[in-house]
Amino acid sequence: MEGIFKYDPVSFDEAASCAVILDQSRLPWEKSFLRIDTAEGMYDAIRQLKVRGAPAIGIAAAFGLYAVALKADDESLRDTFFEASALLRSSRPTAVNLSYALDRMEACYREHGELPSGRIRVALRNEAFRIKEEDAAMCMSVAMNALPLIERSGLRILTHCNAGHLAVSRLGTALGPVYLAMAKGLSPKVYADETRPLFQGARLTAFELMEAGIDVTLICDNMASYVMGKGLVDVVLTGCDRIAANGDVANKIGTSSVAILARHYGIPFYVLGPSSTIDPACPDGSAVEIEQRDGAEVTSMYFARPVAPAGVKVLNPAFDITPAEMITAIITERGVFYPPYDFTGRRDG
Ligand code: MRU
Repeated sequence: MEGIFKYDPVSFDEAASCAVILDQSRLPWEKSFLRIDTAEGMYDAIRQLKVRGAPAIGIAAAFGLYAVALKADDESLRDTFFEASALLRSSRPTAVNLSYALDRMEACYREHGELPSGRIRVALRNEAFRIKEEDAAMCMSVAMNALPLIERSGLRILTHCNAGHLAVSRLGTALGPVYLAMAKGLSPKVYADETRPLFQGARLTAFELMEAGIDVTLICDNMASYVMGKGLVDVVLTGCDRIAANGDVANKIGTSSVAILARHYGIPFYVLGPSSTIDPACPDGSAVEIEQRDGAEVTSMYFARPVAPAGVKVLNPAFDITPAEMITAIITERGVFYPPYDFTGRRDG
């Protein structure tokens, strides 16, 4: 596996005291890294999808907060830290991993808040790095739990959006078992939905799979039924931004359409994610706030010429809810969960 990933999508430069993110808004044209040490800088990076993908957003926010804590003077450390955390929390609403990471950083501050400021900063550093390390370990376990299922169903996979290496700490969620399969000498084949309006499938999934030497075929979103109907897809794997207690899943807009198609064609539809994506406080999908984004993302082809008449009315929800009953199973590092969903216990993978 070691040679597959050539760079780290989210890291922390200790010498320069800043978070470092691969600027995903410039992929696949240009690989450039952003160095961020302010709350406003990280807010903009998350809001503008320079770092995106539920787990990666959480890790970036944790590193961003740590960078802010390093810069703040001792007297204002507490106020600066909690103000920065509140700002980052408001950057995007749907993926629970953001508030999960910020909650952990805030709890860490509260636990160590009476210590000298130098020791508070050390505790925050350790917590931010732990969030990332745990995510990497969870991704590996998710992939190991998923691999036997896809070996059984077949290795022709359709995926939506990007839930690969770029979207997490390492490996990916939906694409984790794809990388594991390749490492095992198998030959997975991936159909990547382009994922309008921001083309995460075309720009990111196709890009990272090609870089890894994995067979990937890009399709427009409206071609999923065609490839499924032709018998070209054995299994659908997607990531997730928030899993409600009843198993409803918020993920990139269009995911629920793919689930409905998969059900129609009798193809297993698996959702993969770390258990940090389960939100026990969210009873079902109707309680998830769906981010509504700028209509310009729909009227213009990603940073190019408009593809719609000027002034057209636009609806641009960034996520949708896939009802629990449309999901064959939800795979986390704690095992494989089948309906009716109950995430309070462990399931065997
Ligand atoms: O708007 P994005 O690009 O952040 O949306 C990302 C997704 O919907 C991913 O599928 C999800 O975060 C899972 S990433 C492991």
